[in-house]
Amino acid sequence: MAQESRQPPTLEIEGARLRPLREGDAGALYEYLRDPAVTELTSYPEVTTALVEALIAKSIRRWHEGDLSRWAVARGDDDRLIGTCGFNDSSPAHRWAEVAFELSRAHWGKGLMGRAATAAIGWAFEHDRVDRVQAYTRVDNFRSQRLLERLGFLREGRLRSFRICRGRPHDFYVYGLLRSDWIGARVAGERGDAVRHR
Ligand SMILES: CC(C)(COP(=O)(O)OP(=O)(O)OC[C@H]1O[C@@H](n2cnc3c(N)ncnc32)[C@H](O)[C@@H]1OP(=O)(O)O)[C@@H](O)C(=O)NCCC(=O)NCCS
Repeated sequence: MAQESRQPPTLEIEGARLRPLREGDAGALYEYLRDPAVTELTSYPEVTTALVEALIAKSIRRWHEGDLSRWAVARGDDDRLIGTCGFNDSSPAHRWAEVAFELSRAHWGKGLMGRAATAAIGWAFEHDRVDRVQAYTRVDNFRSQRLLERLGFLREGRLRSFRICRGRPHDFYVYGLLRSDWIGARVAGERGDAVRHR
């Protein structure tokens, strides 16, 4: 297994960086995930310190095993965790990965996740890890849908009662982005190219 797959690279973006999640992020992750506005349109289960620690441990383990997983989105000035972005699930055999993201509410509406998701997805395509990135979003999660569509994702269908959110089944849209879509959007200049690799 390539050494680079054991830990994700740090990717600098305007105002923040994507870096490996670490155990010390648990407090900051718990603090913003506890805000009901962050999880209300997602399938997150009840947010507890145990859940947060398990999420971080899972991300560290998946990268270590060579799978794609999430990065921490950390503030550029003090490196504090303000979100996560990356991949929940992937199939190396079929060359797809499922992208997922969330941000502390204080940082919404500044284009930050657009830059973070661009960096994460671009890295996965450029390092030849996937040919397709997909996303599932609740049909009433309009912020997430706007973000995906701005990134060039195509809405491919509606999955009825796909996930249980706080005890109730919800319909989700499935979105897909192919390598060819990504390259096409870049060529069309729809996306910045401001990611620096460390
Ligand atoms: C979904 C979520 C990650 C979006 O984060 P975000 O950083 O606000 O998203 P974007 O990067 O798309 O920025 C959004 C807004 O910033 C504005 N913005 C400000 N400056 C900008 C810039 N320089 N570039 C781009 N957009 C900018 C945009 O106009 C955009 O407004 P709009 O959403 O009304 O169109 C965030 O709302 C969130 O954490 N939600 C809760 C968790 C969740 O639902 N996750 C997804 C589960 S599928």
